[in-house]
Amino acid sequence: MSSLGLVGLQWGDEGKGKIIDFLAQNFDVIVRYQGGPNAGHTVYWENFHFAFHQVPSGIINKKTICIIGRGCVIDLSVLKEELNQLPQAKIDYAKRLFIDSKTHLILPYHKAIDKYREEALGNKKIGTTARGIGPCYEDKFARIGIRFGDLNNEEVFGERLKRNLAQKNFLLMELYKAEPLSEKKIYDEYQEYAAFFSDMIIDGSDYINSAYEKNKKILFEGAQGTLLDIDHGTYPFVTSSSPTAGGICTGVGVGPTRIDDIIGVAKAYTTRVGMGPFPTELFDDTGKLLQTRGGEFGATTGRPRRCGWFDAPLVRYTARVNGLKQIALTKLDILDEFKEINICVGYTYKDEKTEDFNPDLCSELKPEYIKIEGWQTSTKTARSIKDLPNQARKYLEKVEELTRCKVSILSVGEKRQDTIINPDFKWV
Ligand code: GDP
Ligand code: IMO
Ligand code: MG
Repeated sequence: MSSLGLVGLQWGDEGKGKIIDFLAQNFDVIVRYQGGPNAGHTVYWENFHFAFHQVPSGIINKKTICIIGRGCVIDLSVLKEELNQLPQAKIDYAKRLFIDSKTHLILPYHKAIDKYREEALGNKKIGTTARGIGPCYEDKFARIGIRFGDLNNEEVFGERLKRNLAQKNFLLMELYKAEPLSEKKIYDEYQEYAAFFSDMIIDGSDYINSAYEKNKKILFEGAQGTLLDIDHGTYPFVTSSSPTAGGICTGVGVGPTRIDDIIGVAKAYTTRVGMGPFPTELFDDTGKLLQTRGGEFGATTGRPRRCGWFDAPLVRYTARVNGLKQIALTKLDILDEFKEINICVGYTYKDEKTEDFNPDLCSELKPEYIKIEGWQTSTKTARSIKDLPNQARKYLEKVEELTRCKVSILSVGEKRQDTIINPDFKWV
């Protein structure tokens, strides 16, 4: 057993960054396998607070190698900024951060198209992060994308940029009545990046397979969440990649037999940023309280996150799609003050009761709740399940029973030490 995949089980922002930073202490290599700077993975360390967008969340651990896999899309301008923040925390990323040569580049035209397309959609917009994610993946699948490795060849890069920009400027000017982008400006900017990032290029698949053969411990870091998955989420209100466990194989270049174990991360309640259906969303003071206590504002865009109660059939569905039996449950401490806590156990759909979540019917599912008496005492200092108040233990038991997953990791605060590990969990 040497590799573990970690995926989000709701609509993103489940606390993956915190859990990865915690686990990274026991891993040799951390690989991001999909998504791009739409992600915001928060890590607290000493007096520092990072929101990693593209750098894998294990970078703080000095011995950990971090890799951006080929299933990701990268914005080198954002990555450079992210890297420039690391030295102030005395984090040396030299020879520890690598990028797969096949990773597709987000170029300025992808960001422009993302922004103008959303504006044109008006109230039908997806509510994207405007980071150019969708347009970049579109070019990848249209086979006109430009990859990180192409930066090494000025001629190839220049030729592809010229061809693509002719199309993109036509779209920008004719459809969106926007200003065209300058080829020279982009070319020059990317020549600088070619020099800056030249030491980081690797064949990620080869690297990871070799590491696996040497019994190195590898953690595959998912971004976003299963309900934002292009195939398994609440389409079209999704992202353009595969955050689910299946995405690891193509996004890294490892076979399924080399993913030894999977864990999903779920918040003890539910949040969502952007548009799209959300059955347990609360529009009242309780929703506001979850938002303020939980600090539910996007780590990438700063947008307020929509909040609601824990939706158990939803997590049962996402756990099933990922084939997992264990979860890391985060932000239990945010529920500390509530007198009563609801858990969604099923829905009414067109006057019929159902216990099953279905992403395509999601906008018509009316949640049915059970109530659990709150514990109204702090769980933040708990370091073992025994330290938890009875009612909090009851809440966990209900979550386990309804999701059919074991809570292997319980998070009761944003810092590394605010973590309880189930003794059966073998990765710590
Ligand atoms: P990610 O995208 O899944 O990595 O999650 P984000 O970093 O976007 O959002 C999770 C937020 O919750 C961050 O601000 C974390 O610092 C914070 N967080 C994570 N786990 C806990 C926890 O157990 N308790 C509290 N209070 N905050 C947490
Ligand atoms: P992490 O990794 C929460 C959402 C956007 C929007 C939809 C599509 O931090 O959990 P995109 O820019 O990807 O085309 O936007 O997906 N979204 C996220 N929501 N957490 C994320 O990442 C997200 N990444 C994208 O808000 O609804
Ligand atoms: Mg996030």
